[in-house]
Amino acid sequence: MAGDDAAPEVMLPTVELLRLLAPDIHFVEAPSGREAVAHYGEAFPAETRAAIDAADCTLFGASGGPSRPVLWYLRWGKDTFVNIRPVRWYPGYRSPMQHPERIDYVIVRDNLEGMYPPREGDISELTALASSRTWWQAAPVEKQGAYALRVCTDEQMRRVAIAACELAVNRQASGYPGRVTLGAKYSIQPRTDGRFRAIVQETVRTYKSLSYQEFLVDDLARRLVAAPETLDVVVLSNEHGDILADVASGTIGGLGLSPSACYGEHYAYFEPVHGSAPDLAGQDKINPTAMLLSGAMMLRYLGYGEQARRLEEAIGQVYHDGKVLTVDQDGNASTGEFVEVVRRRLLDAG
Ligand code: NAD
Ligand code: IPM
Ligand code: MN
Repeated sequence: MAGDDAAPEVMLPTVELLRLLAPDIHFVEAPSGREAVAHYGEAFPAETRAAIDAADCTLFGASGGPSRPVLWYLRWGKDTFVNIRPVRWYPGYRSPMQHPERIDYVIVRDNLEGMYPPREGDISELTALASSRTWWQAAPVEKQGAYALRVCTDEQMRRVAIAACELAVNRQASGYPGRVTLGAKYSIQPRTDGRFRAIVQETVRTYKSLSYQEFLVDDLARRLVAAPETLDVVVLSNEHGDILADVASGTIGGLGLSPSACYGEHYAYFEPVHGSAPDLAGQDKINPTAMLLSGAMMLRYLGYGEQARRLEEAIGQVYHDGKVLTVDQDGNASTGEFVEVVRRRLLDAG
């Protein structure tokens, strides 16, 4: 699903490379957003939903608004409860950090709850809560305004915690320290983030080989920049993970470089961390690296681990050479030229 604005410009060449690497994957293209409105009269037609349901997984470009119902379906409709966002600097990435070689960790984000999906209303509806004076401030129900709800179930927090632990254990096999770091605002939201903290602590304790550290999420934000080498697997709520994944992306060199994968019990979808980059649409300038690396995550999920490794290696070599880079990486190559040099690397490597 190509998505909106500039997203199709990274999706289409990515699918071409994936076809080259794994010719037996059968790709089905389903329209969404403006294209779907033109074709079917709606942004998320039944045909597109059926295509998602029939597939083993979905590769999604990004929503710039029109494709949002698709994103909603991929998350809540398919119950893809955890979002994995690797944060890894490859030599050649134009990082603003002095020592970017220290950056190699993974954000594990709640993909379904917290402030998402939006549940908002008028302050006057909070009358029932106005009696709570725990924080010396009753809800100002007599004033005009609005509220937003943050909803966290034990079940969801627990499965996100388990996913983080399982990932940390898997990474240990490749030499990572097996350290789970929680970032949350348990000081201010004891019922939600405090509960999340307790559940993550409890879960990590059941994994004998793992260690645990926790920070208030504002302090953790500083640590992403000041001490990234202390991080291995970082577990975050939905909204904290959303924001900090973009911060983390900034430390390695920008949104053009950050892939992601969303997993559920029965479905998975893959999308870059970035959005539809409307400011770049139609210019053949958008960096396809994040989309390509999301494609590599999809290959691995489908059992094509060797092909995923080859794709990541080819991308790594292109950055290492530093000759053909897109504008966000201080180069002057177009999207097409970048993909072409990755393709040549893949073919050269056999
Ligand atoms: P964005 O990630 O699209 O862009 C932010 C900035 O980063 C822009 O300057 C953009 O040009 C740049 N950028 C992003 N991807 C890049 C790439 N691959 N190469 C080079 N530069 C890149 O975020 P935004 O502008 O805040 O949001 C645009 C739209 O995307 C909004 O409608 C937002 O809701 C949506 N969005 C969707 C998703 C998703 O579908 N998963 C994720 C984030 C944002
Ligand atoms: C992301 C995006 C989405 C989010 C938007 C498009 C709803 O920013 O995937 O990071 O907030 O989760
Ligand atoms: Mn985001």
